Amino acid sequence: MEYLDVAAELAHAAGDVLRHYASRDKQVEFKGKSNLVTVADRESEALIVREIRRRYPAHSILAEESGISGAAADACWIIDPLDGTTNYAHQFPVYSVSIGFELHGILECGVVFDPVRDETFRAARGKGAWLNDQPIAVSCVGKLAEGLLLTGFPYDFRERADEALALFRAFLVRSQAVRRAGSAALDLCYVAAGRSDGFWELGLNPWDTAAGTIVLEEAGGRASDFSGNDFTIRGTAILASNGLIHDEMLDAIERVRQP
Ligand code: IPD
Ligand code: CA
Ligand code: CA
Repeated sequence: MEYLDVAAELAHAAGDVLRHYASRDKQVEFKGKSNLVTVADRESEALIVREIRRRYPAHSILAEESGISGAAADACWIIDPLDGTTNYAHQFPVYSVSIGFELHGILECGVVFDPVRDETFRAARGKGAWLNDQPIAVSCVGKLAEGLLLTGFPYDFRERADEALALFRAFLVRSQAVRRAGSAALDLCYVAAGRSDGFWELGLNPWDTAAGTIVLEEAGGRASDFSGNDFTIRGTAILASNGLIHDEMLDAIERVRQP
């Protein structure tokens, strides 16, 4: 579990960077119309990348702000230095650091750290998933109508508002409730921990989903694309659930796409 321990150590160190700037000037800049970046995103990423390079010079790195770097290797670290930047910039206390580790294209372990609640979600392939030191498992909710769902909206929402809103409407009328918290990595971990029963989103990137997906799967959940195929982090649309309501969620998506 060496890589898992390193991911946790670096996520905690990066979390300290986010805490440091939380009450200071964050130097907010625009990457796109509604896509922000702050000094905390950059410093958090620089810290994680520097430490991985120092410890594992032969590994490759995929990080949100700096892209692909390092050797072209089978071992790859996938990093979101601050998942929930919009929340962070507005002092809305839902954001995280996400670090996943992939070997030969298969996710081996991942850590998502919430520095506000001091919650560390982690998982290693075949070993289980934990919140801090406690094992976690998905919920037993078996009907979509009794499920609390999570979602998020992509930054290019304005260009695909009809599709995103049609999905939102479909789930809103079929579930008990829908929440939009603002950190996809935490959304996945909340399904893993049984705090939510399902999550869907369009337009995500590997750094949003790498660590959260292995936490979810090791907690007994299921992640797929919108057609029910196994989810891969290079795919952009994700449907994640406790497994029990997955088919009902797929059916809801199918009805939106082929009314
Ligand atoms: C965003 C968050 C958000 C999701 C967006 C992501 P960022 O990541 O995960 O919940 O709805 O699609 O891009 O930009 O804050 O790292
Ligand atoms: Ca993100
Ligand atoms: Ca980010």
